[in-house]
Amino acid sequence: MNKVADRPITLRGAPQDRGRTIGAILVEQGRLTTHDVDEIQRFANTQGVRFGEAAVQMKRIAEHDIELALAHQYNYPILARGGQGGVADDVIAAHQPQSEAVEPLRALRSQLILRWFNNATRKVFVVTSAERGEGRSWLAANLATMFAQLGERTLLIDADMRHARQHRLFNIDNSVGLSALLTGRAGREIARRIHPQLRLYVLPAGIIPPNPQELLARPVFDVILDHFAAQFGLVIIDTPAISETADAQILAANAGSAVMVARRNHTRQARLAAAVEILTDTGVNVIGSVLNEH
Ligand SMILES: Nc1ncnc2c1ncn2[C@@H]1O[C@H](COP(=O)(O)OP(=O)(O)OP(=O)(O)O)[C@@H](O)[C@H]1O
Ligand SMILES: [Mg+2]
Repeated sequence: MNKVADRPITLRGAPQDRGRTIGAILVEQGRLTTHDVDEIQRFANTQGVRFGEAAVQMKRIAEHDIELALAHQYNYPILARGGQGGVADDVIAAHQPQSEAVEPLRALRSQLILRWFNNATRKVFVVTSAERGEGRSWLAANLATMFAQLGERTLLIDADMRHARQHRLFNIDNSVGLSALLTGRAGREIARRIHPQLRLYVLPAGIIPPNPQELLARPVFDVILDHFAAQFGLVIIDTPAISETADAQILAANAGSAVMVARRNHTRQARLAAAVEILTDTGVNVIGSVLNEH
């Protein structure tokens, strides 16, 4: 997994002032001395930036060190892999958060925070792609987990009513989900919290209706999304492929922002370009594209 269309990274905005300070954690981890911390803090004060950003600018630590310190600060749980109450192997960020495979996802999360999260008024985005099997569900599940690990109250909605997957990734019941919510047969409280110490909630797709598109196009969807946007710090929506149905387009228009996934040796360039155009033509803010190298 790699980012495309890079812009320079500066680190700011990650929530850092809860509990112990990042500086204290980095000292404890042997990454900084107390002398470093004093210098960085002075620099941060004069520049009006956060401690982490100052430390990176001064080249005292790498961005990665900040991520590790944040994980430590937030003390998030490592979820079980497989079995009763465990997540599927694919949700690697939940069961193996410090593995190397998660590094590119961390970089992507930082990019999203910098390019979009810090400035977005409505913190809702779809993860979408041109064609089937490009890794949308995989990315949506792992990103949602990783934002929750930062302490962000995060909701993952499985709005792929054609090939619902999130209930399997998070091992939750799929009998009541988004479809029931849209038809008024359930309330918003049906989103499931995945772990008591992780602020991650998943709303599965629910029973597949005969008319998913008609359901998603109902004005009530926008109202529900507004409620969720007010209730959660971040809402991530898994969608069907753009080439498959108009569902993804409807979902992206409602969300307002989109992350595009393309898969190496799979996605045709023309299809990706056409998919991006379809979204931008409908006024969707395409935050960026992610190249899935898997
Ligand atoms: N970066 C990755 N690392 C590991 N496995 C991946 C990665 N990306 C995708 N996969 C695997 O590839 C398969 C397809 O991924 P996924 O289901 O996320 O795609 P999708 O775009 O949601 O597909 P669909 O069109 O079926 O909804 C899955 O088995 C998933 O485990
Ligand atoms: Mg999928």
